[in-house]
Amino acid sequence: ADFFKTLEEKSDGGKLRGNYSLADERYVVRQDWASYTREQHALWRRLYQRQAKLVPGRACDAFIDSLAGLDAADAIPQFERASDALYKATRWQLVAVPGLIPDQTFFEHLAARRFPVTVWLREPHEFDYIVEPDVFHDFFGHVPLLFNPVFADHLQEYGKGGLKALKLDALTYLARLYWYTVEFGLIQSPQGLRAYGAGILSSGGEIGYCLSSAKPRRILLDAERVMRTRYRIDSYQETYFVIRDFEHLFAATGPDFTPIYARLKAMASLPANSLLPGEENLPPNVSAEESVS
Ligand code: PHE
Ligand code: FE
Repeated sequence: ADFFKTLEEKSDGGKLRGNYSLADERYVVRQDWASYTREQHALWRRLYQRQAKLVPGRACDAFIDSLAGLDAADAIPQFERASDALYKATRWQLVAVPGLIPDQTFFEHLAARRFPVTVWLREPHEFDYIVEPDVFHDFFGHVPLLFNPVFADHLQEYGKGGLKALKLDALTYLARLYWYTVEFGLIQSPQGLRAYGAGILSSGGEIGYCLSSAKPRRILLDAERVMRTRYRIDSYQETYFVIRDFEHLFAATGPDFTPIYARLKAMASLPANSLLPGEENLPPNVSAEESVS
């Protein structure tokens, strides 16, 4: 598995990887692109090549279309160049950060249409598996979708919603939504299910598993259901939530969550592998290997 601790773990005060000594009050640093070594660029290239082979037929079109334009195949990308292109497309920008940052700061960046991208790259022995997000996860997994106007607007709203959830002491719930959408979301397409979650798209194993395995549940997204549901950080997901399109995601997360948070606080959470009465478990894609012509 390849997984990351995200929002729920960020605040635990544990030691974070990355050099925070040069960060400003928003946790922003210079990328210092010249300091990456040849070996690091070569490792990026290997990571990129593996994923680039896997995305056709598995990632959503929005991801594939903008990935090509990012010109990130050969070396760790320069954030400023990508940021300029992104700004032209959706008025989002990239900022370099040392690693995980405090929840409040993270949400403030998103609310201002700035996406924080970690500067450090994993080590070769972490090719398949990292505990905290690195530049490959953040850039390859997250940046392409920011070129999609609906997804981009949704992520800004998520940032605002995060600041609100902090005040309402409801971050546990909102973090589950992020996990099951932005990190591990699936989307329907005329050709079958596709991945749009960054945790899937940057993973060599889960990108196939999430679409083709008969094991996990696949349930049409409902925000309140998602926010009731715990998640696994130490294995592939036991449940994936599916959106019809990005408008579905935008609409499902649009309503004021205040009353939902109040309800959720009075309810027990659901295990990661639950299927409720009346819920349809959507079938996996027929994988290329299994399909007979
Ligand atoms: N609508 C949510 C609220 O009222 C905020 C939100 C927007 C959450 C988009 C997720 C995504 O809190
Ligand atoms: Fe991520």
